Amino acid sequence: MVKLRVNGEERAYDGDPAMPLLWYLRDELALTGTKFGCGVAACGACTVHLNGEAVRACATSMGDVDGQAITTIEGLSPDGNHPVQKAWRAINVPQCGYCQAGQIMQAAALLQQTPQPSDEEIDAGMQGNICRCGTYQRIRAAIKAAARGAA
Ligand code: FES
Ligand code: FES
Repeated sequence: MVKLRVNGEERAYDGDPAMPLLWYLRDELALTGTKFGCGVAACGACTVHLNGEAVRACATSMGDVDGQAITTIEGLSPDGNHPVQKAWRAINVPQCGYCQAGQIMQAAALLQQTPQPSDEEIDAGMQGNICRCGTYQRIRAAIKAAARGAA
């Protein structure tokens, strides 16, 4: 039995411990804000927080999260007003939107660790999150706005 906390709620899972966390979040908890992109930890669409650190839910097994705390985009803020979410709206970052939950989760973790990141730190922190629409300039601007508390 795997016991975990998801967005503040205690959960228990008794299926295959090798199953990816991503399937559990999407298919069993209906938390579909976390997206499937590549399935091999190469795109960042499935990024969630594991004890506050950004991880790829497609490459994290249920067995890995026993006793751990997971936060998804649905749980990042009770009302969608995390500073990163506010900055994303103010700067109109998304295009198609598919990658954006993962981008926001990655950015929130980055700012938690590095509250005032340089351009290089933003690039390094966000390099694993791919956007096929090419919103990278706005992502960087929004991270800076969130860091300044400007949104
Ligand atoms: S779906 Fe997990 S990194 Fe692409
Ligand atoms: S906004 Fe379309 S993939 Fe990023």
